[in-house]
Amino acid sequence: MQPSPHAQIDIREALEHDLEAIREIYNASIPSGMATADLTPQTPEARQAWWRDRDLRRRPVLVATDDAGTVIAWGSFSDFKPRAAYAPCAEISVYVAPAAAGRGVGQRMLDALLARAPECGIDRILAICFAHNEPSLRLFRSRGFSPWGRLPEACDMRGIRRSVTILGLAMGA
Ligand SMILES: CC(C)(COP(=O)(O)OP(=O)(O)OC[C@H]1O[C@@H](n2cnc3c(N)ncnc32)[C@H](O)[C@@H]1OP(=O)(O)O)[C@@H](O)C(=O)NCCC(=O)NCCS
Repeated sequence: MQPSPHAQIDIREALEHDLEAIREIYNASIPSGMATADLTPQTPEARQAWWRDRDLRRRPVLVATDDAGTVIAWGSFSDFKPRAAYAPCAEISVYVAPAAAGRGVGQRMLDALLARAPECGIDRILAICFAHNEPSLRLFRSRGFSPWGRLPEACDMRGIRRSVTILGLAMGA
């Protein structure tokens, strides 16, 4: 039987006290070798630096909480390149806790981020995914992202070479 969609998901701006939940969800995605090119769990210090080094008005972080207030997903825009002229171009990330996957939470988070893009000055969005990350490719394609590039066998995932697909969305185009 298909799990029912989350009835009560709230999506809000992340706060500093959400960082540990964000890190846990991120680290849960590493062992699959499908979501990120990180090979070892991210440290609290690395996640704190990620938070500290961003301008939240231009590069927001959102979290989704369930009806108990537990963080079940997060999403963000990050600089693709720090150089000034790349300001309209951001990389998007969406991570859903394994227990909440496959119930539309990723779609809700992606929609919330896309809605925020204009006020962040963002109109070119890049989703940089492993070419074998089918859930992620489906998620972004469902919202109009299309292939903008491919990095053939760019990553060495402990002896398995993996290609990277860059999906892009031009908003307002
Ligand atoms: C990718 C991810 C965010 C999708 O979130 P989700 O809440 O599980 O997905 P949703 O229920 O919103 O469904 C989104 C799409 O993915 C598809 N999907 C979800 N799980 C899937 C699976 N295990 N296999 C294939 N497709 C899957 C859905 O069918 C849907 O596509 P459709 O609209 O064409 O049917 C989630 O799997 C995740 O966090 N993965 C690890 C992190 C990651 O890879 N992030 C992307 C890189 S930024």
